[in-house]
Amino acid sequence: MPTKTDFNDRMLSLGLARVSEAAAIASAGLIGRGDEKAADQAAVNAMRDQLNKLDIAGVVVIGEGERDEAPMLYIGEEVGSGNGPGVDIALDPLEGTTLTAKDMPNALTVIAMGPRGSMLHAPDVYMEKLAIGPGYPEGIVSLDMPPATRVSALASAKGCLPKDITVCILERPRHQELIAEIRSTGAAIRLITDGDVAGVMHCAEAEATGIDMYMGEGGAPEGVLAAAALKCMGGQMYGRLVFRNDDERGRAGKAGITDLDKIYGRDEMVTEDVIFSATGVTNGSILSGIKREVGWVTTETLLMRSKTGSVRRMTYRTPVAPEA
Ligand code: FBP
Repeated sequence: MPTKTDFNDRMLSLGLARVSEAAAIASAGLIGRGDEKAADQAAVNAMRDQLNKLDIAGVVVIGEGERDEAPMLYIGEEVGSGNGPGVDIALDPLEGTTLTAKDMPNALTVIAMGPRGSMLHAPDVYMEKLAIGPGYPEGIVSLDMPPATRVSALASAKGCLPKDITVCILERPRHQELIAEIRSTGAAIRLITDGDVAGVMHCAEAEATGIDMYMGEGGAPEGVLAAAALKCMGGQMYGRLVFRNDDERGRAGKAGITDLDKIYGRDEMVTEDVIFSATGVTNGSILSGIKREVGWVTTETLLMRSKTGSVRRMTYRTPVAPEA
């Protein structure tokens, strides 16, 4: 039987990079073609094929959905050759399907791997999220604070004024009040149309991205992936599940969650050391998108290990067969 002590993150990490690369390459021909489903399906197929080549006994913990709604990479699907350590997998073969279909910035393929039992089984509901980058005392911001107080707390920790803080938020009608409150502090807001895994990751590289803080409701599965990324990059993240009806509360029950109001810290969403790989699909502020030349494709991948804090940026150029 595989055990978690077998989880050799160093050896497995390059294999994980191949998985996110393959998903990105598969969706390359669908960038800007207006077909979200086709782009997603291509990424799913390629991610699954590559995952099944790895010597792991993997279980998808964060995936494409429940078994009855997602035929591939569904929650609970066993992946890998079966000959290797037991691992949890969180994945989003195409984070930003609409961004890809419209060729807008920051679409990524994303996957994280950790020992069995290391990741929150987040149901497919929304999560209220709050994230900041590394270098601040633990707990200087919290989901219990009003949004304006979070901004002023971060500004004083950073040694600047609220007007010097930039907050990233998904542009959604449900965020109208949040946006108004943050604007009242003088802080700037960068609105994104999709892709809050990348949104949270922006906080970890504030100098490069100009984003100090992430706030707002997005997918809970994406929240666990973002927590895995920040565990590697550094930074704080908090999440609280949001339930809109009994069906959603039922999903939490099925996932084994009993405290529906709990605020999860980053290390409660991802409890042990993980490896994380993301490959750029469309150009963005964290990763370059896929570059296509006749006969060739080039990708950029961010491969990280929380155990060592190592961050690799890898460019991969490979020949591709001419399209039929
Ligand atoms: P998809 O790639 O599945 O389209 O998700 C994109 C995304 O923007 C996520 O990054 C985010 O967590 C979620 O959708 C927000 O959901 P909604 O569009 O319902 O507000």
